[in-house]
Amino acid sequence: NIDIKGKDMLTLADLEPQEILTLLEKAVVLKEKTLKKQFDQPLKGKILGMIFDKSSTRTRVSFEVGMIQLGGSALYLNGNELQLGRGESVADTAQVLSQYLDGIMIRTFSHKSVEELADHADIPVINGLTDWYHPCQALADLLTIYEKKGTLKGLKLAYIGDGNNVAHSLMIACTKVGMDVRIASPKGYFPDETITARCEDFARQSGANMVITEYPLEAVDSADIIYTDVWTSMGQELENEQRLKDFQKYQVNEALLKAANEDYLFMHCLPAHRGEEVTAEIIDGHHSAVFEQAGNRLHAQKALLVEILKD
Ligand code: CP
Ligand code: NVA
Repeated sequence: NIDIKGKDMLTLADLEPQEILTLLEKAVVLKEKTLKKQFDQPLKGKILGMIFDKSSTRTRVSFEVGMIQLGGSALYLNGNELQLGRGESVADTAQVLSQYLDGIMIRTFSHKSVEELADHADIPVINGLTDWYHPCQALADLLTIYEKKGTLKGLKLAYIGDGNNVAHSLMIACTKVGMDVRIASPKGYFPDETITARCEDFARQSGANMVITEYPLEAVDSADIIYTDVWTSMGQELENEQRLKDFQKYQVNEALLKAANEDYLFMHCLPAHRGEEVTAEIIDGHHSAVFEQAGNRLHAQKALLVEILKD
């Protein structure tokens, strides 16, 4: 079993491999029940506050629906409309919200401010995306891979594109559970070195292999899963023009995928830009699992919410 009751979920790096696998098993069970419209109410009366400093479709709706299906409820809190947006400190906000809520999910820019929120809150804090990490996405992605491939350990995942929040969380997720991971990014857009070093440790412990390269073909060669994300993340809009140039050779398309395994899975956390990081042909083709990934956000997060918020 797993004991993460009352804990924060800021990155998957804080979970043991076995805890991640147990969460996935619980997500599978919850998903079966959800699809049959069977809803137990393990979180009856619990209230999750959801602070958003960035846009969201999947995270916002899946967390809110998840809480409702589990018997609780969720509050959408626009960061700009909180006093936080007018300069009230993160520490004061944390102490106030801790008296009203049972948990906080936050999507914001700086990961440090999420750590600060968690430090000062008496209730669990869940990371719904920062500039550095997107752990709930990576958890749903592992669930999707497990459903599609029947296993995790030993699979090879290639991520092509920006060494961003999604890339970091995938590196952690894969190296924790023993999946090989290869990241191909242009020079200057490699994943963060400190996070990479931590993942090298996880890889040593799980027997996974991790490669960071600037060559997409090297990453894709006989890969089971090909993953990409937008070239310009939320908050980087001013760099868009430069990034379009720098990432030209990093598009996931038919030609690149010739090097992948025949039964490769294509993944993307969404939202996507067809014609930029991936062609329409690939993301809308029969290898694509992007909508299963989006759907699995609900089930993976419900498993997480139950384990963290239960009595
Ligand atoms: N993948 C993801 O987190 O989507 P949203 O930005 O819509 O929440
Ligand atoms: N890397 C993207 C992910 C969006 C879900 C961003 O941060 O905007």
